[in-house]
Amino acid sequence: MIQSGLILLCSSLLFGVIQGNDILRLNIPTEPTLDANTVCKTFPDLTKEQLELCTKFPDVTASAIQGIQIAVHECQHQFKRNRWNCTSLETKNKNPHSNAMLSRGYRETAFAYAVSSAGVALSVARACSLGKLMSCGCDMNVSGRTKDWEWGGCSHNMDFGIQFSRDFLDSREKAKDIHSQINTHNNRAGRLAVSRNMEVKCKCHGMSGSCELKTCWKAVPDFNQVGLVLKEKFNYATMVDHTNINEGSLRPAIQSHKKRPFETDLVYFEKSPNFCEYNHELDSPGTEGRLCNKTSIDIDNCSSLCCGRGYNTQRQSRVERCNCRFHWCCYVVCEECKYTEWVTVCK
Ligand SMILES: *[C@@H]1O[C@H](CO)[C@@H](O)[C@H](O)[C@H]1NC(C)=O
Ligand SMILES: *[C@@H]1O[C@H](CO)[C@@H](O)[C@H](O)[C@H]1NC(C)=O
Ligand SMILES: *[C@@H]1O[C@H](CO)[C@@H](O)[C@H](O)[C@H]1NC(C)=O
Ligand SMILES: *[C@@H]1O[C@H](CO)[C@@H](O)[C@H](O)[C@H]1NC(C)=O
Repeated sequence: MIQSGLILLCSSLLFGVIQGNDILRLNIPTEPTLDANTVCKTFPDLTKEQLELCTKFPDVTASAIQGIQIAVHECQHQFKRNRWNCTSLETKNKNPHSNAMLSRGYRETAFAYAVSSAGVALSVARACSLGKLMSCGCDMNVSGRTKDWEWGGCSHNMDFGIQFSRDFLDSREKAKDIHSQINTHNNRAGRLAVSRNMEVKCKCHGMSGSCELKTCWKAVPDFNQVGLVLKEKFNYATMVDHTNINEGSLRPAIQSHKKRPFETDLVYFEKSPNFCEYNHELDSPGTEGRLCNKTSIDIDNCSSLCCGRGYNTQRQSRVERCNCRFHWCCYVVCEECKYTEWVTVCK
């Protein structure tokens, strides 16, 4: 049932021709030169500040852009049961920040900002330590030893990743309005979801694996883990009061929830629409044609997902991409999974 294939999310950054067969033979081309001309002109809708950063640090920017692609992919994974399933962030324009959903103040908007910012921070932190970037390397600040083990190896450079994510994404939020405050908050929450979930990896040394000495280093978490953390934050996001914005303080809209949102919480200020029907303004496709689950008690059950319109039962063959892996730089290799089964589809 599984065939291999190639899907390019980031095709604008793919240099040289890669054919499906080359991938199958794992004949991955030599790494492209990431100069400003190739990187900065291929990703659409960069702001003036982002273009400046890109010109100075084209290789880091390429890594940031790859981080955004990974984020969009993870967003789709986390929202595959929801009415708004995040596919609209991928279509047409490869830059999710130019999607209409990102100029709103919904819970979903909050998630999209946070996951993108997390993607950039994580991708850059990891690329630094892989030795792919001119301006950064391993985090050498992680050092010292204890009786049983010592910091060694190459720690992922979270400080650099976070700084670049901040420079690259928060620079979009120059206005002092509610949107900018909320977006900046959610960007930060996304980065914290990475840095607060760093993992410690260790390797044993000593006679025949006796592990007399261990060297350990800090690594970014698997991005799926970050996605899960942020989806949980999405479920418990705080609606803030947009009529009373003071510099640097977001208050919850409902006064009974007295607590100010934590720095790690997602915040929003606009009630989401139901996402049932096609909405041109939001570039949101609605749920017609979505696969629903008759027996689920979760949000993907047919009555909820199809918004009461009912569903059809049909036998369907479809191909979905699956098991995607992100390769430096700058492409995505996925397998294609084929399914032939009876499904229920929203009317
Ligand atoms: C090491 O840590 C110090 C203090 O936190 C910081 O100022 C410095 O930039 C760090 N250096 C590196 C290479 O990360
Ligand atoms: C998301 O929704 C769109 C539009 O309804 C649909 O075409 C797409 O297949 C859905 N994606 C997933 C992963 O279910
Ligand atoms: C539908 O939901 C049920 C209950 O949650 C689950 O066991 C089943 O695997 C789901 N079916 C599909 C096709 O996802
Ligand atoms: C379907 O999902 C909705 C939303 O989560 C829920 O309120 C409802 O009880 C579910 N319906 C069934 C039949 O499980």
